[in-house]
Amino acid sequence: MCGIFGYVGPRTNGAELVLEGLKALEYRGYDSWGVAAVPLSFRPPSRNPKDKKWIPGQARDDKKTIIVKKKTGKIGGASVADIPASSLALGHTRWATHGGVTQVNAHPHADCSGSIALVHNGIFENYEEIKRALLKKGHRFISETDTEVAVHLIEEYAKKLAFPKAVRRAFMEMKGFNAIIAMRADKQEFVVARNGSPLVVGFGKGENFLASDPAALLPHTKNVHFLEDGEMAIVSPDNVRIIEAKTGHAVSVRIQTLTWSAGQAEKGNYSFFMLKEIYEQPGVIKMITKTGAAQADKLARTVRSSYGTYMVGCGTAAYAGIAGSYLFSKIAHRHVNCAIGSEFGYALDFLGPKSLVIALSQSGETMDLLEGVKKAKTKGARVIALVNVFGSSLYRLSDEPILIGAGPEKAVASTKAFVGILSHLVLLSFALAGEAKKGQKLLHQAAKSVDDVLGEASVKRLKALAAALKDTDHIYVIGRGLSYPASLETALKIKEISYIHAEGMAAGELKHGPLALVTQGTPCIAFLPNDETYGANLAGAMEMGARGGMIVGISYKPHEIFDHFIPVLDAGEATIIPNVVVGQLLAYYLTIEKGLDPDMPRNLAKSVTVK
Ligand code: M6R
Repeated sequence: MCGIFGYVGPRTNGAELVLEGLKALEYRGYDSWGVAAVPLSFRPPSRNPKDKKWIPGQARDDKKTIIVKKKTGKIGGASVADIPASSLALGHTRWATHGGVTQVNAHPHADCSGSIALVHNGIFENYEEIKRALLKKGHRFISETDTEVAVHLIEEYAKKLAFPKAVRRAFMEMKGFNAIIAMRADKQEFVVARNGSPLVVGFGKGENFLASDPAALLPHTKNVHFLEDGEMAIVSPDNVRIIEAKTGHAVSVRIQTLTWSAGQAEKGNYSFFMLKEIYEQPGVIKMITKTGAAQADKLARTVRSSYGTYMVGCGTAAYAGIAGSYLFSKIAHRHVNCAIGSEFGYALDFLGPKSLVIALSQSGETMDLLEGVKKAKTKGARVIALVNVFGSSLYRLSDEPILIGAGPEKAVASTKAFVGILSHLVLLSFALAGEAKKGQKLLHQAAKSVDDVLGEASVKRLKALAAALKDTDHIYVIGRGLSYPASLETALKIKEISYIHAEGMAAGELKHGPLALVTQGTPCIAFLPNDETYGANLAGAMEMGARGGMIVGISYKPHEIFDHFIPVLDAGEATIIPNVVVGQLLAYYLTIEKGLDPDMPRNLAKSVTVK
């Protein structure tokens, strides 16, 4: 849950390149940030024996420390103009785990001498015992982080071992899921190791890059190597060596080509990524309608030949899984089990080689999901990933990856990836029912309906609703059937970015407890699509209205009990898609009304790579 970016090569604006890379990665963590750079004077300029002043393995002048600049808060308009010219630089955006959000706790961290710097993603589980041993050896610590222990451990081993070996030895001692990048003042190279947390090497011409997310590499290169768990890399301007961390044996470089373009990962004319991504949704649905049918057919065959299908995901992706279970049941008359990624590992003892796991994820890096999927694989289950990021950990872990095809999603709140997953699941359900064409037709209608929700009149209504609700403390959202996951998702979007407490629930559950919370003026949102749930859900809305609730009806037709009516054109079983877009826009405008940043909500990060 952090962004990492590194540059090594002939350019001398290393710190600036890293800062730009960090800006592109900030959605991965934005408590604090830092850049470390080796000033050019430290760099061994050549291996030319005539260069008498430089003794290999030593810094070239007295100032042996790497320059480190760290700040709390978001990067915003920060500059690194005060960092000297550098051709080896490394940076990090933090999502705090060990130690509060302070400048000292921000990465990069340095060793006692200041000549080794390191950034880290993950949790170094046994850091305390190692720290105690290092303290006895005289190491001085200034932060509360687990990360700082790693750099001192490397320093300790580097007293006797070559730097890559010292990093390797230290890394092998680190328990937990970690990725580290270390650099030393006197060597123009990075030493990188990965176990669990994502890291990608980007290949340039006479220069190389490192990033925790391939999208950040797009302005520089599309040729990448995704480090696997247990792999290390030694990265210099003109060479990348991959080795197995356990044995030190060389591993061949596997260059893959990224398919996204740099422009896709930019905000363009939108004020926030979230709004851009919301407006990209009709295009995403149309594209999946066109290109997803063949995949859906193939996947339908796999589902048919499996004994038990499980959909697993976290957060928004888990809600997509719940929606999938209704779609499977309703359209294909098939049962599917849904699980939350973090719980899946505790409930999969009955999986076997004929089981099928469909893992849903935007990033493909969600640790809770990856852990469950790995366990399912040990049981012999087949894993299909419906994932948005090419080359991500889930993509590589699965037996068969299917790309969602939503393009880069950068706002922390997932929107188009969710709608993308739903679109694939609609196609899959109809393919299973042998009615693929009908699925495509409904998706066409859904795209039209989303266009309508995003139109001027609808946005005006949603803005007015947001203005009316912005000072409320609680919002309740109800639905039945496919509108139940729509309610959960709407509530998640609202709480995640506007910080208003919102609860999504199955409307039938109201009278089993939550109705006690409804008093005069309590905002209650009800999804009332044109399906078999309409009557019963309307009854729920009426029960809330009778207790003074302020009723927001999201429906294909008005009703007298609605205090606010948000029309949504019917798209059959795919109506969940425009319904959810209403929830996304409402959450967005509530956030704007409150003067908050929808792209980077407090305490969260886009890619949840820790447990
Ligand atoms: O990358 P993933 O789809 O695996 O992420 C799962 C959740 O962390 C994610 O959906 C989260 O709930 C979003 N911030 C919700 O908007």
